[in-house]
Parts: sequence; structure tokens; C-alpha cells
Amino acid sequence: MSHKLAHQLNIDALPLDMPNKRITELMDLRGKVAAVTAGGGPSLGQACVNRLAGLGAAVAVIDIDSEAAQRVAAQVAERWGVRTFAVTADVTRFDDAVRAVAAVNAHFGKIDIWVNNLGIPERGLRFAEESEAVLDRMIAINLKAPIYCARAVLDVMLPQKSGRIINIASESSKRATALSVVYSSCKAGVVGFTRNLALDLKGSGVTTVAVCPGVMLTAEIAEHYRALPEDETPQNLVNGINRVIAGRASLAEEVANMVGFLATDAGAYVQATAVSVGGGLSD
Ligand SMILES: NC(=O)c1ccc[n+]([C@@H]2O[C@H](COP(=O)([O-])OP(=O)(O)OC[C@H]3O[C@@H](n4cnc5c(N)ncnc54)[C@H](O)[C@@H]3O)[C@@H](O)[C@H]2O)c1
Repeated sequence: MSHKLAHQLNIDALPLDMPNKRITELMDLRGKVAAVTAGGGPSLGQACVNRLAGLGAAVAVIDIDSEAAQRVAAQVAERWGVRTFAVTADVTRFDDAVRAVAAVNAHFGKIDIWVNNLGIPERGLRFAEESEAVLDRMIAINLKAPIYCARAVLDVMLPQKSGRIINIASESSKRATALSVVYSSCKAGVVGFTRNLALDLKGSGVTTVAVCPGVMLTAEIAEHYRALPEDETPQNLVNGINRVIAGRASLAEEVANMVGFLATDAGAYVQATAVSVGGGLSD
């Protein structure tokens, strides 16, 4: 092969040693630094922090609730024997996002993986019933925050010439979802942002990908539902699960498994797209 053709095909960029490695060898985040927004959260936030730490990463837990951030950071350090760092920030505010990025970078000296996990669904009203305040809050939490954080973390990742931004979207981004107009539209925006940012970052060493949970529960919430009397059946949840081919909700950890995989060399080629972890959720 001519030197010119090898250059055109970018042969040197291929991970040519990969065939000789076990996939588990590739799924090793020791020496890496990750950060998770809403990482103190009882559901996907803490699950992402735990999964990334379980693969060996040092992890920053970013949350508006400082007690939750500190609790999860302490539990995770104890459980997985990695360094953790709690950061209190409201990442719907650009200056807080910048401050959080700067704090994580100052503490660990770099940021390899940034998980935009923050997101909150709306309360199940028709669109025409929503107030301006709710619309603003929905857009700030579900769309502005990941955009602000990505913008802020690029100031660290671009000079590093490396980084992975993982955006948590939702299966609701891909279909019309009842009583969820603003949330689902914001999540569709997150998927579009992931794809467009990926192209914008082409050649920079920084890559993006989105993950779409479907119907997600924690072990604690599952036990809570087990104990509920029949007349308190959460009908929305039952309806949601009826649309899932897997026949059940996922645990947050099952979604965080994908986040962990995508953060490693094993999942690095999955870029500029939204990966469903919805158990085959259908319309
Ligand atoms: N729960 C589901 O079934 C489901 C389904 C599809 C997608 N998702 C998406 O998964 C992600 C995680 O959702 P979750 O329900 O697991 O929540 P979570 O438990 O991961 O996060 C909750 C945390 O968010 C923190 N938080 C709230 N506002 C904040 C702010 N402004 N700045 C920083 N932290 C803030 C809270 O303090 C809390 O600790 C979201 O993006 C959500 O849209 C969830």
C-alpha cells in the first residue's frame, strides 16, 4: 500500500492491537477521570457513577444537592476503591457548569469522560396547560444543561485532544409520547445535539454519543411498588411496561452498563448516534 493511500485510509488511527485483546481488557477505565451530572441522584446518576468507578475511573459527582453528591462520592470511593470528588452545582446555569468543569479539572488534572445525566420529566399535563415557568424549567434542565456542560467541558477536552461526552436522552426522543411534549422534544434535541456536536468535533479527539433509557426503575422503587395496595396501581408505569418487549422495566444499572461500555475503548467507535436501552420499547 502506498504511503499516500495509508494516509487517506487513516490506517494508523485503527486500533490494530485490538484483535489480540479480550473485550474485558478494553473495558478498563483505570487512570481515567469521569464526571456525572446529577450524579448524586438515586436512579441513573448514582448508577453511572458506580459503573464508571467499577471500571476503575476516578469520578466527580456533580449535583445541585450537595449532601447527595457527597454521600454518593463517599459510598462509591468506599465500594470501588477509586478517587471521587463531590461538586455542588446547578448545571442549568452556564457559570455553574463552567465552575464545575474547572473544579473537576483542578482536582483530577484532566477530564476524560463527561456524562450529561441531568434530566427531569414533566408532570403529565397537556401542553396547553403548561405555564411559562414550567416550560423554561423543562428546557433549562433537559436541553440547556447538557449544551452548557458540553460547551464548558470542551475547554478542557479540546486542549487534551481527547474526551468522551455521553448524553442521556430518552426513548421518548424517538417517538410521540403522551403528556410529555416538552420533555420528549428536549430529549430529541439532545439526540440532535449529540449528532451535530460530533460532526463539529470531527478530528479533535473528542467524541459524543447519546444513550436512551426507556422505562427505568431502581431496586428501592421496585420494592416500594411491590408493597403497594392494588388500588394504588401506577397505571402510567403499567402502560409503559406493556409496551416493552422485554416485558419489564430496566434497572438504572442496566442503562449505566451501556454508559460504562461506551466510555471505554470497547465502545469508542459508537459515535454521533443514540443507543437505545429500552428493552425493545415499541409504540
Ligand atoms: N427515570 C426514567 O425512567 C427515565 C427514562 C428515560 C430517560 N431518563 C433520563 O435519565 C436521566 C436520569 O434520570 P433519573 O430519573 O434517573 O434521575 P437521577 O436520579 O439520575 O438524578 C436526580 C438528581 O438530579 C439532581 N439535580 C436536579 N436538578 C439539578 C441541577 N439543576 N443541577 C444538578 N443536579 C440536579 C437532583 O439533586 C438528584 O440528585 C435523565 O436525563 C432522565 O431524563 C430517565
